[in-house]
Amino acid sequence: MANRHFGKLADVWKHAALAEVLEREPPDRYAETHAGSGAYPVVHDAEREFGILRFLEVAPRFAVLARSRYRAVAASYVKGDRGLYPGSALLAMTVLGDAGSYLLCDLDRESITHLRRWARELGLHSCEVAETDGMTAVAAWLEGEARGPGLVHIDPFDPDARGPGGYSALELAARVADSGTRLVYWYGYDEAGDQAWAHKKLATLTRTPLWCGDVLVTGASDTPGDLGLATTPGTGFGVILANVQAGTAAACAALGNALSDAYADAIFPDGYPGNLAFTSSTSGGGDEQA
Ligand SMILES: C[S@@+](CC[C@H](N)C(=O)[O-])C[C@H]1O[C@@H](n2cnc3c(N)ncnc32)[C@H](O)[C@@H]1O
Repeated sequence: MANRHFGKLADVWKHAALAEVLEREPPDRYAETHAGSGAYPVVHDAEREFGILRFLEVAPRFAVLARSRYRAVAASYVKGDRGLYPGSALLAMTVLGDAGSYLLCDLDRESITHLRRWARELGLHSCEVAETDGMTAVAAWLEGEARGPGLVHIDPFDPDARGPGGYSALELAARVADSGTRLVYWYGYDEAGDQAWAHKKLATLTRTPLWCGDVLVTGASDTPGDLGLATTPGTGFGVILANVQAGTAAACAALGNALSDAYADAIFPDGYPGNLAFTSSTSGGGDEQA
């Protein structure tokens, strides 16, 4: 298993936004560059207690979170017999079912084996799980013959790494945005000054309107941010959307604000009180807003 960060707070925001887009605008074709494993046995450490486990505990008290598809799907796996946290690909397979087709890429053999097992378990007839560089495979998928609304999820391991096809994750994101295909792009950072950095960079690569929802951890501790831990002040993460309806972006903004409310003045894993500062911004189409 190559993904050591499942179920932390950064996953909660990424997966809540992804599930919202999939639920509101289900694509016929779903592609993911860095799919990870299907699901992960839940670990009861400080980061997961503060991430998915706290989320499931507090979500019923916040209407927007309570009725989100993410809460329903995550709860069904976490509280199920096997006690698993669903990764993004399994979340997509669960929300979309057998109605569409899938291309799921990863370089890690164990993750690939797990994804294939889940595709069989869910009875999916059109699910390609490819042990290959995701940027190259998804770029080819974009140019393929298949038609119908598609969605690409890019969750880069290293945003600057280039695959054999020559694209970095952000360059591929710009191609997805320009193609009219829906885009869900995740980014992280560990210095407060880098808030929404990927949105700013992607907006220089495409003129397609973008929406960005950014979550910055703020707090009293003077420990430097650390994306590996995900919850020290100065750490942040965000999701960029392209080619989605305004109502979908608005629903994601409502989720981000509700997440911030649900964690207000929480005691973070470092022992200090903190907050989640949620901000949304748009670019392209002449309506830049912070
Ligand atoms: C953070 S995990 C993905 C998590 C998953 N998207 C989720 O949200 O549940 C990152 C994954 O990227 C994979 N990976 C790294 N470089 C890759 C590449 N060039 N192409 C495809 N997968 C890659 C790793 O093996 C790892 O499983």
